Order: sequence, then C-alpha cells, then structure tokens
Amino acid sequence: MSETADARTDRVDFRATSDPALMDSADRGEANLLGYEELYALWERQQWSVHALDFSQDRVDWHERIGADERFARMYGLSSFFVGEQKVAAELGPIMRAAPTEAQRIFLCTQIADEARHVAFFDRFYTEVGVFEEEGLEARLAAATKHTSEPFRRLFDECLTSRVDRLAREPEDLETLVEAITLYHMVIEGMLALTGQHTIISYNERLGTLPGFVEGFTNVARDEHRHVAFGARFLREMAQADPRHVAAIQRVLDEVAPIVDGVLKPPWRSGVDDDTRLYGPSVNESRAFAAKALERRLKVIGLGVRPTHAVAD
Ligand SMILES: [Fe+2]
Ligand SMILES: [Fe+2]
Repeated sequence: MSETADARTDRVDFRATSDPALMDSADRGEANLLGYEELYALWERQQWSVHALDFSQDRVDWHERIGADERFARMYGLSSFFVGEQKVAAELGPIMRAAPTEAQRIFLCTQIADEARHVAFFDRFYTEVGVFEEEGLEARLAAATKHTSEPFRRLFDECLTSRVDRLAREPEDLETLVEAITLYHMVIEGMLALTGQHTIISYNERLGTLPGFVEGFTNVARDEHRHVAFGARFLREMAQADPRHVAAIQRVLDEVAPIVDGVLKPPWRSGVDDDTRLYGPSVNESRAFAAKALERRLKVIGLGVRPTHAVAD
C-alpha cells in the first residue's frame, strides 16, 4: 500500500507470526504455519507494556498540530478500534471454551490477555492525550461508540454476538465455531483491524505525528498478526477435516462482504469519491489491501476461490 507499510510487513518480528498475508509463498497456497504451542511460545517472547509508552508528544500533536476537521476524521478509525477491542475481548471467552483441544484453548487464553491490553492501550491514549473529557472507561467507550458507523455496529453486535451467544449455549457446535473464527480472526482482525492498523500507522509516520501511539499500535498490529496466524492454522485444519467447514467459511465471507465494505468507508466520506485520498489512503486502496491479505490467507487455508465480491469491486 505504501513504502512504510511494506517496511513494516517486512519486519522480522511480524513475519515470525507466520501470518500468510506477510508471505509471498502464500500466493501459491504455501506457508509454514506455526503450531499452537509455537504460537504460545511466540506470545511469551512478544510481550510489551502499555504503561511504558510515553504519550506526551502525542498530546501536543493532537491539540496543537492536528486541526479540528482532521481530528474529527481520525476519530472514526481510532474509536472503531477502541470500541472494537473491547468487544472482541468480551466475546472471546465462549470461543476459547468451545475450541476442541487444550493447546488451542491455551493460545486463545493468551489472546484474551492481548485484547484486554489493546483496550488498556486505547484507554490510556485517550486519557493521556485528552481526547475526551469523560471520566471512567465505560463513559469513554460510550463516547467513542458515537464515532462508529452503522455497518461497524452490525458486524459486532449482530453478526459476531449471535454466533458467540450460540457457542456459549452449545460449546460442542464445531460448525458455529468455524463460523465464529472466520468472522473474528479472518474478517474482523485479518481484513479490518490489520488494514486499519497499517494505514493509520503509515499515515502518522508520514506526517510525523503521535509517536507514542505509533509505537504502541505497532505492537498491537504484531499481536493481531499472531492472532490471525492462529485463525489460519485452525481453519486450515477444520477445512481439511470436513467439507461442511469449507462451506461454513464461505457462508460467513459472503454474508459479511457488504458490511465489511461499509466499515472500510467511514461515514464522513459519504459523497467523496472512493479513489480520493483524504486523511490517509483512499477507500479503494484500503479495499485492495484487505482483499490481498484475505486472498493469501484463504489460499493457505485451502479455499483458492475468490472469496467476496464487495472487496474486489
Ligand atoms: Fe486486538
Ligand atoms: Fe486480536
């Protein structure tokens, strides 16, 4: 997408996660995916601390170098992440419990800790920089929710929550688990979160803004690549085991494709051409980045077909 994004996806620590989106060989459907125990060991090596980050320059940048219009535009992406991290942290418990093996459950426990750290990262950024006046995490989340879009809320509150609720009632329902992990790891983390992360980080690096945020968000992105690598491993095993699971993966991708496209296009961009760059990449550049990443991962999972229509429009 950009030189800085390419430099980041080339990083050794990012590639160590074995996320197929970072590997050229995935274009041929080949990738040495880490096993669940290896992913756990990598989690131990890739620890980081929210409280070690310094947001003092970010506070100056936010209030003195970034204008009001741009602050408002940036709020869509930032708030979608703040709220999204809280939602995925809350939904992962039933998914972890439904995973069929102990090694999978142990990795997913590490992911629950990661998602909690990501919420703490955004809460500390919002507080230290002074984005909102609200007191308390719940009040800040409610304020951030006002900056999210209708497709964003549908994806989490309807598509994800309905499947996780079903899993909470019936943890042995493997087909629903495949659907939930397709939606969570391939769509929400793999397509939306990582696309947003790489574009927001590149944009700040180009402008030289929000250095504390960039440092922390780069760690968040590395965590997400590790989570997506788990999802690719799990879905490849499930797809090989039963053709009904291949159909379940495809069903979810088809169902959410138009919603994903809606999330990639912020509401404040309505009336703006999708090729226009405005506070970052164009909508079409974001679509292309998300589609390429999904295509590589699906090839490695064993679904070589073009997955969705919306992202390739
Ligand atoms: Fe996260
Ligand atoms: Fe994640």
